[in-house]
Amino acid sequence: MAFLKASCLPTLIFVLLLCNIRASDAQTPPLAEGLSYTFHQSSCPQLESIVRSQLQTELAADIGQAAGLLRLHFHDCFVLGCDGSVLLNGSASGPSEQSAPPNLTLRPRAFVIIENIRSLVHAACNATVSCSDITALAARDAVVLSGGPNYSVPLGRRDGVSFASREDTLANLPPFNATAANLTASLALKGFDVTDVVALSGAHTIGRAECGSFERRMFPTPDPTMDQIFYTNLLQTCPILNTTNTTIMDIQTPNAFDNRYYVNLMNRQGLFTSDQDLFTDNTTSGIVTSFANNQTLFFENFVIAMIKMGQLNVTTGTQGEIRANCSFVNSNNTLSLPAMENANDNQKIASY
Ligand code: HEM
Ligand SMILES: *[C@@H]1O[C@H](CO)[C@@H](O)[C@H](O)[C@H]1NC(C)=O
Ligand SMILES: *[C@@H]1O[C@H](CO)[C@@H](O)[C@H](O)[C@H]1NC(C)=O
Ligand SMILES: *[C@@H]1O[C@H](CO)[C@@H](O)[C@H](O)[C@H]1NC(C)=O
Ligand SMILES: *[C@@H]1O[C@H](CO)[C@@H](O)[C@H](O)[C@H]1NC(C)=O
Ligand SMILES: *[C@@H]1O[C@H](CO)[C@@H](O)[C@H](O)[C@H]1NC(C)=O
Ligand SMILES: *[C@@H]1O[C@H](CO)[C@@H](O)[C@H](O)[C@H]1NC(C)=O
Ligand SMILES: *[C@@H]1O[C@H](CO)[C@@H](O)[C@H](O)[C@H]1NC(C)=O
Ligand SMILES: *[C@@H]1O[C@H](CO)[C@@H](O)[C@H](O)[C@H]1NC(C)=O
Ligand SMILES: *[C@@H]1O[C@H](CO)[C@@H](O)[C@H](O)[C@H]1NC(C)=O
Ligand SMILES: *[C@@H]1O[C@H](CO)[C@@H](O)[C@H](O)[C@H]1NC(C)=O
Ligand SMILES: *[C@@H]1O[C@H](CO)[C@@H](O)[C@H](O)[C@H]1NC(C)=O
Ligand SMILES: *[C@@H]1O[C@H](CO)[C@@H](O)[C@H](O)[C@H]1NC(C)=O
Repeated sequence: MAFLKASCLPTLIFVLLLCNIRASDAQTPPLAEGLSYTFHQSSCPQLESIVRSQLQTELAADIGQAAGLLRLHFHDCFVLGCDGSVLLNGSASGPSEQSAPPNLTLRPRAFVIIENIRSLVHAACNATVSCSDITALAARDAVVLSGGPNYSVPLGRRDGVSFASREDTLANLPPFNATAANLTASLALKGFDVTDVVALSGAHTIGRAECGSFERRMFPTPDPTMDQIFYTNLLQTCPILNTTNTTIMDIQTPNAFDNRYYVNLMNRQGLFTSDQDLFTDNTTSGIVTSFANNQTLFFENFVIAMIKMGQLNVTTGTQGEIRANCSFVNSNNTLSLPAMENANDNQKIASY
């Protein structure tokens, strides 16, 4: 299968369809310096079972939090690296004056879930596990418990001591109106290839979005790449501009982590420009089709891309710290009250 990794030969149509799609012998990405699969094995052997069992309880109560947790890890890693910065009060998740587009709308309950797990883990193992490691494990378990692939998570991240500015957030999170070319270019800067771009976007097989994230595809006139019936149905949720109503992102199986997202794109039922353009653009459409046709192939490539994402600009070794409260850096922790313990999703944090 090695030939699939070779550059495409434009004269061979069948090769064009296959190019950029990794062969099934694709390797797990290399480990970033300071991370390992066994990092907490002797210091906190209960870690993964604590995370898993806590999430089983949380997701049984609200499966929507799986999407919230997966997105939290993405935002953590893309902005300043996977260092728990997204969890800090005063970051993109925090006060509105620091809010930044691309409309973060992270779920408040997801922050609480992470902090509750931290508290259980530290009770069992002392402060040996960072909030960023817990976020990475929670994202993996959110995928698994939604029906997606299991994979081992490299561990050993430490938490950062500064939060992301609005500018950092804006510069690093692609906007929903990005084209496939925009995504490919911006994710290349972080070391992702075109297959990673398509695979990571498959996270939109679960979760919800506000009308504001796609209404410009509906008004004043429908985007020609949007299916007519899909558009008509969306008009019920988003009848006018500027509502804060939400809709599910995968109209076939909204809470299942599967490959229906790609089938939706082929049916022109993708929600964002950044989704639908992956099928419109002929540099990515072949990958969309291959994932729509083969869920195993999608899962394999999603895992590779997630392991890469989870290692972006990690803080390790003696850098950073192990936070004693995920919302605050330790030097500020004396000021802290358990501010978010009662948060629920009725209090929406609209950050972009
Ligand atoms: C490729 C560029 C991406 C863009 C432009 C993008 C954009 C968005 C937008 C606009 C929303 C809806 C926010 C709202 O209206 O409330 C959203 C939701 C979501 N995104 Fe992405 N995203 C991208 C990549 C990712 C990645 C890499 C992941 C995870 C691996 C991810 C996971 C999610 C999830 C799970 C949701 C649903 C959140 C919820 O239901 O609370 N996204 N994304
Ligand atoms: C689907 O992808 C997997 C993983 O790459 C591969 O082993 C399998 O042969 C593919 N199945 C089909 C029907 O192509
Ligand atoms: C932390 O942020 C949340 C959400 O913005 C806010 O409700 C809470 O008051 C903050 N806590 C502290 C101690 O600043
Ligand atoms: C989302 O971001 C866009 C573009 O910056 C902005 O116009 C819109 O008001 C934001 N929506 C919300 C709910 O914050
Ligand atoms: C946690 O730290 C305390 C105080 O240093 C120590 O007595 C205890 O054995 C530690 N617990 C574990 C599980 O390492
Ligand atoms: C998932 O992967 C983790 C880490 O490799 C492993 O400990 C766990 O047993 C796996 N779970 C399942 C259900 O395969
Ligand atoms: C620590 O607290 C101070 C005072 O509230 C605040 O100005 C600063 O931004 C906080 N730093 C971090 C990294 O949260
Ligand atoms: C997305 O929309 C914003 C605000 O309307 C605009 O400034 C930006 O150029 C657009 N980006 C793309 C990739 O179209
Ligand atoms: C990305 O989108 C902008 C519009 O905001 C466009 O001007 C630019 O050329 C695009 N970049 C790439 C690499 O496609
Ligand atoms: C969406 O918002 C509009 C106006 O804010 C409201 O009238 C309508 O009932 C909402 N629709 C749904 C499906 O929530
Ligand atoms: C939507 O909100 C934006 C800014 O919040 C405003 O400029 C625009 O006029 C509004 N559009 C409608 C149709 O209300
Ligand atoms: C892809 O699309 C571009 C522009 O739409 C076109 O010029 C090019 O020939 C297409 N390439 C293939 C392989 O279809
Ligand atoms: C983050 O990682 C990228 C790619 O590995 C690197 O180019 C960049 O300099 C790093 N940024 C920081 C702030 O360390």
